[in-house]
Amino acid sequence: MCGIVGYIGKREAYAVLIKGLERLEYRGYDSAGIALLDKGVFSVYKKKGKVAELKNFIEQQGKKFPPLLYKERGQEVRSGIAHTRWATHGAPSDKNAHPQLSNSGEIAIVHNGIIENYLSIKEMLMKKGYKFKSDTDTEVLANLIEDIKKNAKVSIDEAVRLALLEVVGAYAILVLSKDEPDTIVVAKIGSPAVIGVGDNEFFVASDATPIIEYTDKVIYLEDREMAMIKGGALVIKTIDNETRNPYIQKTKMKIEELEKGGFPHFMLKEIFEQPRSIGDSMRGRINANEGTVKLGGIEKDKEKLLDAKRIIILACGTSFHAGLEAKYFFEELTKVPTVVEYASEFRYRNPVIYENDLVIAISQSGETADTLAAVKLAKEKGATIFGICNVVGSSISRIAHAGLYTHAGPEIGVASTKAFTAQIAVLMLMCLFIASEKKLLNKKKMIAILTELENIPKKVEQAFLAEAAIKKVAKKFKNTENFIYLGRGYGFPLALEGALKLKEISYIHAEGYASGEMKHGPIALVDDNMPVLFIANKGSSYEKIISNMMEVKARNGTIIAIITKGDTRAKKIADYSIEIPETSDIMLAFTASIPLQLLAYHIASLRGCGIDKPRNLAKSVTVE
Ligand code: G6P
Repeated sequence: MCGIVGYIGKREAYAVLIKGLERLEYRGYDSAGIALLDKGVFSVYKKKGKVAELKNFIEQQGKKFPPLLYKERGQEVRSGIAHTRWATHGAPSDKNAHPQLSNSGEIAIVHNGIIENYLSIKEMLMKKGYKFKSDTDTEVLANLIEDIKKNAKVSIDEAVRLALLEVVGAYAILVLSKDEPDTIVVAKIGSPAVIGVGDNEFFVASDATPIIEYTDKVIYLEDREMAMIKGGALVIKTIDNETRNPYIQKTKMKIEELEKGGFPHFMLKEIFEQPRSIGDSMRGRINANEGTVKLGGIEKDKEKLLDAKRIIILACGTSFHAGLEAKYFFEELTKVPTVVEYASEFRYRNPVIYENDLVIAISQSGETADTLAAVKLAKEKGATIFGICNVVGSSISRIAHAGLYTHAGPEIGVASTKAFTAQIAVLMLMCLFIASEKKLLNKKKMIAILTELENIPKKVEQAFLAEAAIKKVAKKFKNTENFIYLGRGYGFPLALEGALKLKEISYIHAEGYASGEMKHGPIALVDDNMPVLFIANKGSSYEKIISNMMEVKARNGTIIAIITKGDTRAKKIADYSIEIPETSDIMLAFTASIPLQLLAYHIASLRGCGIDKPRNLAKSVTVE
């Protein structure tokens, strides 16, 4: 949550920062701000609302427009820090937006995270006469740094380091000080920070998206590390003052991946990217002719995978639903008991972990605070951790013993789509790998499953053909206040995910339920006004689903059914039907997800909702 970006070098800092904020806006969008340090003068601009509002506000500054100021003052080294916020401490407002300044205005700071002991520090500072203008924990940190800098008479980087020794919590911070205009300080625990290394210039951001336009050389800071970028040089050390060698990597992210490419929203672009993203997540990992799966990322730890007596999947949100879907095929094909847990629940219990347990953490961003904390807990208790992440170099991917990336490419829309199906693809490969190594699937069966898997991108293309029918359903139900989504077996996690998509972006209340549970509660909601969406493909649960559809029909409910192409029986019962191509049970998620995502998208679009940035949500939830 919250995006931070910083720049120091000879470019016009304002342009780099505002563009960086636009790229990071998926992380939070209730307020934004920029501080530019220019010849010892801070220009600070902050606005409640989205980055576009901040941009308008700054660009209407007349003679005070930052690029004009630079020109006028003849500034050589240009630096600035910026922030896009998802509020935790203090409501979204201009005053609570970052950057936060210290009392004297000497120090500016942006912060992603939470300082847990900010109240005791604030009390201590108030006794010393410090005044606070905002409700944020960040302003407390700005003043703590100022207090230490003044009293200990140390440089800004040392003041930051000493201040951080007093802080409890999670953070990625960027700090500028008026009297050291050639320096920018960055530090992190828990929240991500990436440094871009250019030619005599440096970029810092919450992820690599604001950086790749300028350089492909990046450094991912580790927890408890800080970097001082000073006079064109970079020094990394820990907050305990141990020097570290910078490890510079090359990022493969491409700029086109960060643009909408002609689509009105990132979400729609990402839905239509799925044939590619599923294909990329499998590429080089399967050989259908030979019936083999090769998974480089887990090769060295494969014994742990094969010895596992139990698999524990930890995740949040949509990634949790991917885990739930995987439970069905893991248990069916590997016979290993598989439990799926919300990371946020797992970590606050006292979970029992055995030596032969394998934990699989699923996270698109690789930064979700609860998943990260749950993984740390499981690791401490001796479990082997495999990560499935989309963001290369992310915290979970680094903390895991082994893992696999989903090669979905950057997912910008807050509602997850292509990451979900890519996660299912990678989980399926892991499952097939175990089943084949344990000789639970013979060659013939492996060849058959892998051949079907190889064809999935084409089947997903075919699922797009139902878009016209989906648009009609969207039009009909755009003003509905409630929805029930029902599925059984492999369809159940998809019903949960479909309902989540609708809730997230259209703000319609939607419940996902196991269709067998319908008679234990949800059926009481069914009346003439209640649309019930069934995942009614012709799989192993088909007959039972048909019975459930009849039960809804008998109570005058309106049925929308996702059916297998050509299935006239389900079509007759349903009021509206949406066809998907036939697949085996285990592959249902790839095809059935498409109409679920498109239906949510088109309803939200007809309701005029802010699809890529739904209210109150953020893509990367780095608070617990
Ligand atoms: C947020 C996002 C969801 C996502 C969840 C887990 O709530 O809005 O789309 O599924 O976090 O994120 P992760 O990055 O761990 O998959």
